[in-house]
Amino acid sequence: MSADVWMRGRGRQRGRSDGELALGVLWALWCWRLELVLLAVVVLAERGVASAMGDTVAMVCVAVVAAAGLLASQPRRLLLRWLYVARMRRAVGRAALDSGLAAHPWSVPRVLAACPVAAGDRVRVRVGRGRSLAELEARAEELAACLRAREVRVLRETANASEGTMLVVRRDPFEGVSPLRWPLVEAQEFSLWDPIALGVDEQGDALSVLLPERNVLMGGEPGAGKSAALSVLVAAAALDPSARLWLLDGKLVELAAWAPVAQRVVGTSGHEAIEVLREVQAEMDARYRELLARGLRKVGREDGLPLHLVVCDELAFYLSLPDRRERQHFTELLRDLVARGRAAGVIVCAATQKPGADVVPTALRDLFGFRVALRCNTPQASDTILGQGWASAGADASTIPGGQRGVGLLLTEGDRPVPFKGFYLDDDDVCAIAERAASKRADAWLAGAAADQRDNDVSGLGVTRRWRSRLSTNTMRTQARWSRSCSIAPRTSSSASALSARSARRGTAGGRSGCTARSTPSILRAASAAPSTQPSRSRTARC
Ligand SMILES: Nc1ncnc2c1ncn2[C@@H]1O[C@H](COP(=O)(O)OP(=O)(O)OP(=O)(O)O)[C@@H](O)[C@H]1O
Ligand SMILES: [Mg+2]
Repeated sequence: MSADVWMRGRGRQRGRSDGELALGVLWALWCWRLELVLLAVVVLAERGVASAMGDTVAMVCVAVVAAAGLLASQPRRLLLRWLYVARMRRAVGRAALDSGLAAHPWSVPRVLAACPVAAGDRVRVRVGRGRSLAELEARAEELAACLRAREVRVLRETANASEGTMLVVRRDPFEGVSPLRWPLVEAQEFSLWDPIALGVDEQGDALSVLLPERNVLMGGEPGAGKSAALSVLVAAAALDPSARLWLLDGKLVELAAWAPVAQRVVGTSGHEAIEVLREVQAEMDARYRELLARGLRKVGREDGLPLHLVVCDELAFYLSLPDRRERQHFTELLRDLVARGRAAGVIVCAATQKPGADVVPTALRDLFGFRVALRCNTPQASDTILGQGWASAGADASTIPGGQRGVGLLLTEGDRPVPFKGFYLDDDDVCAIAERAASKRADAWLAGAAADQRDNDVSGLGVTRRWRSRLSTNTMRTQARWSRSCSIAPRTSSSASALSARSARRGTAGGRSGCTARSTPSILRAASAAPSTQPSRSRTARC
């Protein structure tokens, strides 16, 4: 009796393993279906030709057709793409089985598409009924080991909970990458209402930020690339003739080149920084009154009202001013702009090394919607910029290798921080853009004057003169203020000679200042040549 039961058990077991074997064979055939179909087509064609013309001719025909197909770039690319997708489908399926994600071949995630990207492979998957992407995320470590990759990341889709993207990270896409040129470097004009290309992500796609209604906080260790990232945003605003730029530069040199296109540029003077913020605050209040009068709740692109970009490099410098009252006043004004500026079209972009609560009050820091964490020393510093918990969730700017300048994590509203490498504008690019932007702004101002002239039916020459004089007064005022703030820190003779040596090497009249001399409109040139606004020791004299 017991032998009978044992025999029946063995029989059931054998039946089950036969079934599993058949399933495995069927699945293997299904996985290799593309290759098998291609092979079958070749064999059938060869046999067909062989039956009519003989084996040798058939072999030659097949070889010629295959060679022609492989030499033509379009069919070759198509074939390689199909084979790549088929390979990824098999790899993901096998990894899902081996990692325990799927119990049997028919429940592995379905690969919808795959393509190679800078970091490795990007695979779009759909999980089966009753499964979730969370299970895929939970098995990411095991999947990465099975796929022989550094890491597997699962990016969810907002529209469909069953579909997502698996990023199979095989290499560091930013390692050894030379500085990336900003795509708008040659642009004549740009609208600050459009997304600004900030850099490229791990998949090699451009990463953009839309500034209206947002504020940006950047942080990172010294030399990580904060000022370089800020300069991309400033360049975009400069190329928009309608945008108003307010620049605060605790290091004097980072934003100096943009003086000709800025409403105001402030250096190390706390008093002047407060004055500028007050001016922007007055603009903001006036804008709200205007919106009220127009019956609007916020500024829109179609309203024709200019956006104001307030850029503050070395935020910690201003928030640690020696005078306590100045410090508090500055903090309060900046907090007000960040808090209320959104609907009025006031955008604040600030950069600092470590925005810890001891330097940047949390009441101010937490208001910034967009965060950019460039390389940090510790996971805690990374969390200080991005927000608590991101480092332990895998978004940690302290894991960025030391030599990678301009690489960081971008956190936009609600999303997970995205690794990226920022575009870089070298000194010559900055000069060229500032020049072009200055001349565009001059043209826009003159066009406005001409329109005024037509409206008022006044002699064109008189109005143009009036606008020219207003324009040069404005430029002179900006430059004179900037000169005064720069003269607080006069250059020593050795640093001055080093700077002039650098300028001579670049073939300009003096550092970034060479900018204005080349193609700035005559009005601006005249303004910058005015002896009264050119103290010999100031950097503005050269800008
Ligand atoms: N996106 C980038 N691509 C390539 N190189 C970059 C990039 N960003 C910065 N660098 C390099 O790193 C250097 C330092 O950059 P930057 O001055 O922006 O750093 P920082 O974070 O502002 O430093 P600090 O805190 O001292 O002001 C630059 O001079 C440049 O050589
Ligand atoms: Mg800097």
